[in-house]
Amino acid sequence: MQTEIEKLRALIRYYEHKYYIENEPEISDSDFDALMKQLEALEASDPGPIPPDSPTQRVGGGAELGTRFQHRNPMLSLNNSYDEKDLQEFGARVHRLLEGAPVAYVTELKIDGLGVSLTYENGRFTQGLTRGDGEYGEDVTDNLRTIRSVPLRLAETDTTVPPVLEVRGEVFIPKHRLGEINTQREAEGESPFANPRNAAAGSLRLLDASITASRPLDIFVYTLNYAEGFEFATHTESLEHMWRWGLKCNPYTDCHKSIEDVQNYYQHWVEKRHELPYEVDGVVVKVNQLSEQQALGTTSKYPRWAIAYKFDAQQAITTVETIEVQVGRTGALTPVAILKPVSIAGATITNATLHNEQEIKTKDIRIGDKIVLERAGDVIPKIVEVLTADRIGDKAPFEFPDHCPACKTPVQRTEKEVAVRCVNVGCVAQLKRRIAHYASRNALQIEGLGPATITQLVDNELVGDVADLYTLEVKPLSKLERMGVPSARNLVHQIEQSKMAPAEKLLFGLGIFHVGESVAELLIANFRSIDRLSKAAQEDIESVKGIGPQIAESVSNFFSQNQTLLEKLQTAGLHCFTVEAESTQVQTSETIDDFFSGKTFVVTGSLEGMTRSEASNAIKSRGGRVTSSVTNKTDYLIAGENAGSKYAKAEELGVPILTETDFFAQL
Ligand code: IVH
Repeated sequence: MQTEIEKLRALIRYYEHKYYIENEPEISDSDFDALMKQLEALEASDPGPIPPDSPTQRVGGGAELGTRFQHRNPMLSLNNSYDEKDLQEFGARVHRLLEGAPVAYVTELKIDGLGVSLTYENGRFTQGLTRGDGEYGEDVTDNLRTIRSVPLRLAETDTTVPPVLEVRGEVFIPKHRLGEINTQREAEGESPFANPRNAAAGSLRLLDASITASRPLDIFVYTLNYAEGFEFATHTESLEHMWRWGLKCNPYTDCHKSIEDVQNYYQHWVEKRHELPYEVDGVVVKVNQLSEQQALGTTSKYPRWAIAYKFDAQQAITTVETIEVQVGRTGALTPVAILKPVSIAGATITNATLHNEQEIKTKDIRIGDKIVLERAGDVIPKIVEVLTADRIGDKAPFEFPDHCPACKTPVQRTEKEVAVRCVNVGCVAQLKRRIAHYASRNALQIEGLGPATITQLVDNELVGDVADLYTLEVKPLSKLERMGVPSARNLVHQIEQSKMAPAEKLLFGLGIFHVGESVAELLIANFRSIDRLSKAAQEDIESVKGIGPQIAESVSNFFSQNQTLLEKLQTAGLHCFTVEAESTQVQTSETIDDFFSGKTFVVTGSLEGMTRSEASNAIKSRGGRVTSSVTNKTDYLIAGENAGSKYAKAEELGVPILTETDFFAQL
């Protein structure tokens, strides 16, 4: 049995490597999913513990922001150069310090993300840290584990893997995926990420790794910092080894015999960088020979053997014609600057999001101001500076509305969040956005239901919630502006068709906080229907592998507050209320363990023998539930070293406490 499981794990690792690292998939997504399901089933029916580097064990836990670890050696930053003169000076200095020896350089793309360090022990990924202050980093191991291009186990190749390996790299988000994350964030009243770097940093520092897992994070490693028992002569040699061990390095790395060659590489990427699917803000030039790197050494901040040769920011100056305040589907008010159209890097820019009230105040943006606008790749343009010296006359600061611009209800400001909200549940602007989301391509996909039609439906009171769409009839619809009988018929047909949508599409379309497409799929895969999910206890939702406490709470709250809407949708005849999705959860008799089955556990403190997420997985695979806070529904608290407030809470409530040894005995 064990060998069958191990064989399957190795096969899945191989396909993951092909897909996520080499970008050359060998099997279809559905075949891959089938293999994963097969592995989950085998693991569930096997009495042995599931190893943490199994491909099924990517999601659990979250960032340990309080826990900081010292880096093996400081994670330095890079000195910047901005033009050919700076580059020549760098080359001349290197040449001088190395006393005239010919120097070979390596050039790499400078990925605009978040620097991290990854440690592998005996080939297993054991620790991931952020750069932090360079000296100490934060523990983001669980979050890094969710990134599919971070191997949980190094590839076994012709070269053995070192007993301890530490590599450094950059975590990033592909630039075309940022829009999708930001749409969701704005809808949820959070300010959008200004650039892919912030998005990567924000996603990696989440306390709930299941939310990190839903973000399209990726990695490139660029430094082999430590490999016990290995010595390399050059940086390129270390890159080759990292490739062979299955780590993802950037393919656009070159070797040059002179600093002039480096300038050509830079020039090439000045022109081509927009074609890359990720953001690069320059190139990094490194001395290739490691003995030379060592001879050159570092200053307290930078290595003397490397330099970041930055690209020019793409900027333009224009005027803020007005500031509009839009209402999102959850009531968050988002200000948008309407600009005098201006062209940057071939794109005409007419507006820029101002994110929230605070942003306008901090930057002191006023109507009529001249501003510097910056566009980084495909990212939403942002206002980087107000040219206050050019401000003519007495312009009043922008007054953020105290009332919702759509329904005139007084807005709500809380200390908890930056978003100013309209809290009127009947606000028509919110309703219009909710319907637009419900009808969108990745939700119920109701074509022909664009913003203009939605506005008319709501303004003419034909629709008061998404369920009312199913009551629309051709005759009254055809009387709307620019509609006519054929379009009305088509719309009714499209709405009727949407009743066949699978449950995950409906769940996503409901617009629940933190429920993006992948979370919706995961929930339906486990609960099989919206009806079952709506009746599930918060703990049951949280016990699903890949779902953390924040998502569980949000889902549970939504269902307790929206019963009427669900009943209306059910009465309208949505197919997914009567047909259950196929189960992907395989529960065999072996997974039901007498001690763990049906009981609720909380794991706290640091365990010696396993991480908290491994402990959670071990409990879940035995039929138990794991939640984040101790309540009177908790059956056991498992307490490792330095257990804090949860320990005290368990004592107060009389919840039995298991030590690590007790827990292992039960396992
Ligand atoms: S080498 C001591 N190579 O840029 C030198 N860094 O502004 C360590 N970065 O902190 C860095 N791409 O987070 C290196 N190909 C690359 C890089 C890169 C992006 C980041 C890294 C570093 C920052 C410096």
